Amino acid sequence: MPDLSTSLHTDMLASFEKARAARSLPRRLYRAIRNELSEKGVYGTAWGDPETMEPLMFVRDRWVLPYVRADQTAVEIGPGGGRWTRYLLGFERLYAIDFYPELLAELKRSFTRANVTFVQNSGSDFPGVPAGAVDFVFSFGCFVHLDNSIIERYLANLGEILRPQANVVIQYSDVNKVMARELLPHFAETTPEQMRSMVQAAGFTVVEEDLTTLWHSSLIRFRP
Ligand SMILES: C[S@@+](CC[C@H](N)C(=O)[O-])C[C@H]1O[C@@H](n2cnc3c(N)ncnc32)[C@H](O)[C@@H]1O
Repeated sequence: MPDLSTSLHTDMLASFEKARAARSLPRRLYRAIRNELSEKGVYGTAWGDPETMEPLMFVRDRWVLPYVRADQTAVEIGPGGGRWTRYLLGFERLYAIDFYPELLAELKRSFTRANVTFVQNSGSDFPGVPAGAVDFVFSFGCFVHLDNSIIERYLANLGEILRPQANVVIQYSDVNKVMARELLPHFAETTPEQMRSMVQAAGFTVVEEDLTTLWHSSLIRFRP
């Protein structure tokens, strides 16, 4: 507990003032013009940008970047416009797997690197991904919309593509949280208890979970 000599409260006020200065009209105009003139924009950042939104920055730094290896292979399920794909480009090979060709076309607009393979699947499979070749699987913003029956199909298909030491990190809808349960009608009905038992029933070992960082969803990491 801070004592009376703490600078905690004046520091908090100072950072509020700094943020207020950053929101001043000239600065907002500068940023708007810079955004217009800069990159094409990534579809999905309107839901939160992992470059600027703190819980997503945490997800990026804690659940994604530590696993990126230049000599390994990764799969991203449901990459959308590439909000998270950006952080997976450091893998030797990245399979970006999506059910919708329109979304893969959008991803291709922004990501032209030779180490990215774009794969259209049938909703729960990994066509063209070599057996036993994948070190890391990441999915964000996709499983939150999948029924448990589809999640189970994905889990059943995952085993074949993973290396023995692989890590799988999946964000899923958590209806133990009021936001997923009542405010987001497109979110699935999954709970952490269900996710855990589906993962275990598919033969994987749960390594860790994050039930607190996100307001509408949770993360699970598991291994073969
Ligand atoms: C809401 S977007 C999220 C995109 C991105 N991961 C992000 O966080 O910005 C959901 C993505 O999952 C894809 N998707 C939906 N159902 C899928 C499925 N069964 N298998 C693979 N991709 C799926 C959609 O086409 C879309 O690209």
